[in-house]
Amino acid sequence: MTESQNSRALRESADVVVLGAGPAGLVLGILLHAAGIDCVLLERASRTHVQTRARAGFLAPNTVGILDRHGLSDGLHRDGSRHGTCEFRTEDGRFRLDYGALGQGGQHHVYPQQNLVTDLLTHYLDRGGRIRFHTEALAVHDADAIDGTGGTGGTRPYVTTREPDGRPTRWNARYVAGCDGRHGAARRSLPPGAVRHHHDHGVTWLGLLAEAPPSLDAVGYAVHDRGFAGHMARTPGVTRYYLQWHRGTPADAWPEQRIWDELDLRMRAADHGPLHRGTLLERGIFDLTCDVIEPLRHGSLFLAGDAASLLAPAAAKGANLAVLEAEILAAALTDALTRGDTAGLDGYSDRCLAHIWRAQEFTGWMTRLLHAAPEGDHRSAGSFFHAALRRSRLDSLRTSRIHQDWFAENYVGV
Ligand code: APR
Repeated sequence: MTESQNSRALRESADVVVLGAGPAGLVLGILLHAAGIDCVLLERASRTHVQTRARAGFLAPNTVGILDRHGLSDGLHRDGSRHGTCEFRTEDGRFRLDYGALGQGGQHHVYPQQNLVTDLLTHYLDRGGRIRFHTEALAVHDADAIDGTGGTGGTRPYVTTREPDGRPTRWNARYVAGCDGRHGAARRSLPPGAVRHHHDHGVTWLGLLAEAPPSLDAVGYAVHDRGFAGHMARTPGVTRYYLQWHRGTPADAWPEQRIWDELDLRMRAADHGPLHRGTLLERGIFDLTCDVIEPLRHGSLFLAGDAASLLAPAAAKGANLAVLEAEILAAALTDALTRGDTAGLDGYSDRCLAHIWRAQEFTGWMTRLLHAAPEGDHRSAGSFFHAALRRSRLDSLRTSRIHQDWFAENYVGV
């Protein structure tokens, strides 16, 4: 935006400008609004798009506890279901882990994320929360100038946005929360000091949404020389499947029949029973990569959710971290704005990074456990070594109660 456009831009303001209305942005907005903080959510999509964007809802006990604490879990307890078992299928047979009864972990709640987001959005709007849909944040400016408590003489951050009619707007703020995901304006506005740790697990998934009832009463992980296959109930009539996929092959390369035959093969349906087949409603390609931004704070700009770090989907931790970070940031911003106490803000990045790296470590372990050698020749010496390690890990998980407790605690922990 040029200086003259800047000067002509419509000016708006809020103490906290939150970019993005996903799980992170909505939980943050709800908690700030409940604390009487002047905040606004800027969301580039429409309300309908935000509420219908289908994503897995695999909620950890800690996440459910946060939602319970703030009166945000009625829908989840009414319409969600509990999950506490996963089933591994390998060349040595199958075994089930009742992780809900192991370790200190507890069970997951399964509640489609679009339902949770709808509940959160309704809660926020019913209480008069401010949100602007169809409003794309373009950049965050001057975040590094001052820490937002408005010391004398310092400048304050502002966000430039594009309104639905294309008009430029400038949002003045004391703090900006980047909850706008991996491709949002917050990440684009990070100052040179920010470091992005990126890792490619070397694995690609073909994600499938099937109009068919679940074939297992558990999360299914099939480990096979031909590649990984996964099964996750979504609703009584819709099931999520994953196939480890050759990177670069288009999602529509195989006809449905061939996909179901491959799923049968890798999930060893001949030994453990047929899969319930149905129309494939959706196909998507996911390269299993991850990243972490360090630090998560840049002056008055704070990152949370996918804007802060991306996890490979092997352990379904993304939304759980987003909700945890939102609660931590909400408390810290409230302390700073109501009592001038910035200790929470000063410690926000280190505190959340500890959770993020713990989740990254477990997700990396899980990704290596489930997949044949990363892309490349499966007959290389390295891949046989890799396969032998994987088989040993699975055997330890099958036979060692201590290992199972560790798995349970990390699988549902955040
Ligand atoms: N301006 C305004 N809004 C934006 C912009 C932008 N420039 N860029 C992205 N957004 C919005 C998106 O439309 C989306 O609604 O930011 C929101 C980001 O939401 P999510 O991608 O859901 O990210 P987050 O809230 O961090 O949730 C993280 O939840 O979606 C699941 O598993 C997923 O790991 C992910 C987790």
